[in-house]
Amino acid sequence: GAPITIDISALGEGQRLVDEWRGQPIWVVKRTKQMLDVLPTLDPRLADPESTTDQQPEYAKNELRSIKPEISVLVGLCTHLGCSPEMVAEIKPEPFDPEWKGGYFCPCHKSRFDMAGRVFQGVPAPINLLVPPHHYESDTSIVIG
Ligand code: FES
Repeated sequence: GAPITIDISALGEGQRLVDEWRGQPIWVVKRTKQMLDVLPTLDPRLADPESTTDQQPEYAKNELRSIKPEISVLVGLCTHLGCSPEMVAEIKPEPFDPEWKGGYFCPCHKSRFDMAGRVFQGVPAPINLLVPPHHYESDTSIVIG
């Protein structure tokens, strides 16, 4: 598939844009400072906090998994069996896992990911959500592919 360009000029803090590339949903999320501050505190609960073992672009191999700290670009498919996880923007969403501080929740088999798409330990999804190849064409324009 050809690359796509996503205009993020209207994307507000805490919001997500959804597009499609190669038949896959692409999410672009502008994370709040509060969401970013939570990420380092989660590392001990995660399977691969630095994203070192995934097939990922170099710029995804870090705690935030992004080129710009606030902007997260992800393929919106669960890495278990491909269901579509829900975005849960609240920091304390659900009592069933008190250490999950929101992010992405897969309703199919309860896999949980943080706001960087990093997978928690002890869930069916084997790896972090994928970061698609992308770059910035300008401050407000992202090319996927
Ligand atoms: Fe997401 Fe199974 S498909 S947990």
